[in-house]
Amino acid sequence: MKVLLLGGAGFIGVHLARRLIDDGHAVTIVDDFSRGRRDREFNQLRRHPQVKVISGDLTAAATWTALPQGWDQIYLLAAVVGVRNVEQDPDRVVRVNTLTALHLLDWVSPGEQVFFASTSEVYAGGVDAGIVPVPTPEDVPLMISDISAPRFAYAVSKLLGEAAFLHAARAKGIGCVIGRFHNVYGPRMGTDHVIPEMSLRALRGDDPFLVRGADQYRAFCYVDDAVEAMVRLMSTPAATGEIVHIGDDTTETRIDELAKIVLRVAGAVPAIQTAPAPPGSVARRCPDLEKLRRLTGYEPMVPLEEGVRRTFDWYREFVAAPEEGVAGQQSIAFYYGTGELDRLAKYRRVVLQPEFYSPDELTSLRQRGVEPLAYMSLSEDHGPAAPWQRPDRNPDWGGAFVEISHPGWVAHVLRQASTALDAGFGGLFLDALNVELTYPEDIPHLLALVAAIRERAGTAYLLANRGFGLLPQMAELVDGVLFESFSVRWTDRGYAPWPPDVLEQHAKIAERLLEFDLDLYALDYADTEGLAAFAARRARQFGLHSFISDRALSRL
Ligand SMILES: NC(=O)c1ccc[n+]([C@@H]2O[C@H](COP(=O)([O-])OP(=O)(O)OC[C@H]3O[C@@H](n4cnc5c(N)ncnc54)[C@H](O)[C@@H]3O)[C@@H](O)[C@H]2O)c1
Repeated sequence: MKVLLLGGAGFIGVHLARRLIDDGHAVTIVDDFSRGRRDREFNQLRRHPQVKVISGDLTAAATWTALPQGWDQIYLLAAVVGVRNVEQDPDRVVRVNTLTALHLLDWVSPGEQVFFASTSEVYAGGVDAGIVPVPTPEDVPLMISDISAPRFAYAVSKLLGEAAFLHAARAKGIGCVIGRFHNVYGPRMGTDHVIPEMSLRALRGDDPFLVRGADQYRAFCYVDDAVEAMVRLMSTPAATGEIVHIGDDTTETRIDELAKIVLRVAGAVPAIQTAPAPPGSVARRCPDLEKLRRLTGYEPMVPLEEGVRRTFDWYREFVAAPEEGVAGQQSIAFYYGTGELDRLAKYRRVVLQPEFYSPDELTSLRQRGVEPLAYMSLSEDHGPAAPWQRPDRNPDWGGAFVEISHPGWVAHVLRQASTALDAGFGGLFLDALNVELTYPEDIPHLLALVAAIRERAGTAYLLANRGFGLLPQMAELVDGVLFESFSVRWTDRGYAPWPPDVLEQHAKIAERLLEFDLDLYALDYADTEGLAAFAARRARQFGLHSFISDRALSRL
């Protein structure tokens, strides 16, 4: 099957994508990465041959015009979610959640099968008012207690979405299933939700351990179970045109009990301190799953303690090797000196000369949440004379240009990659990819070499220096791209901004880079605060993580 996951880089989306691939389907993910992250798990998923990723804002008509049609299944998961977003930006919540749904309904073709992700929040007002039973079936009245209150913006948007899907489905002959999720949890769900939040506090060693809303009840559903329900519903003809509750009704858990489970799993025994629930959260929530069971034979399989354990373990890893870096870490540094481990620890990734760092030093960096990347040149050789070297040399650095396809060079580069990774580098920095400016006929050979490095490196992080002539193919092979000398360059007379026409040309390239699912970095050379500020500001404008140094990369 060909499946389209709209908002597929988020929490439920990535779990669903993995499941669909395991079932042998081809998955295309569309996401604007406003919340979905291009983290290691997503990048692994992206590399699967059956996965395609499109960056796009689904509130923009142009994104829909460019989307291919002819899908066996479509899941609409894209939405602005989370208490913080709802409280701080209710206008955006309503706009994004309704526009994505309405654009989809305008775009989808008759006969296509669509899943709309709704929420238990649509009826929460009725539970508050005491007119809706718990466990709650699908056919209760939906109620918004206060239309002007920001916290209802999310429920309003999903309520409108439900109506839009039901009516458009009938009018257009679309097959649709509306799933109302109830407290789905699991790995990679951000830090807003109670289970990750408690897990992170337990890992931090909070004592006393604060439990808000200790006497509230929730029925938590492990994400694999929610995915199972979605997959079953989408392949059940009788579910078409239906609203169905999705969750786990087997255990209703008091929040102070949940805290005890998290602490047990964490092996922590702090004093528990209770506090009132945040305003607006319902005292009890549990789905009635009779309809889901009747339609699909679904049964939740992951007991709460097991699900909490899996989630906790994931967050423990996340804290040990954070994708975004530990608090206060900057994104990247380039340093071609030796030592300075304390200063390097301030960065999430550091590009180093491999021969300057011992395996012990690399381990120490990794333990501090730093990912060291080893410098490697792919098109220039600074070593002794060798059969792959061309007669010409790089006028700036003196290295000999090489015949990239020469088998000796390929073997040499792959050996360097293996040596660096075996020594403890977490990835590789692939330099001198400006081949389109020097030997354009080498482009296919360089791509083949990068592909061979990817195969050798497995899931290790690959950062390319420029390499714009290798796009778009290179975007499938590397995790990030560095734009070296994006705004400022060095000349014989010192450091200076690029002239306006070059800045403009670089801006166009940077805009193109944003189309790819890559981490983007800028490295600029500056010797005054003014120049450094200019380079940092310009990098920020284009969404590039910036590092500024001297020509020798000797500063941290
Ligand atoms: N997780 C739950 O317990 C739960 C409960 C009720 C409902 N839901 C619904 O399920 C769906 C998925 O939830 P989730 O927990 O995975 O949320 P999530 O925030 O992790 O995923 C939503 C994804 O949509 C993307 N997105 C947002 N705006 C976009 C736009 N304009 N264009 C393209 N992509 C955009 C985000 O980047 C993100 O990757 C949502 O619709 C949510 O409302 C989830």
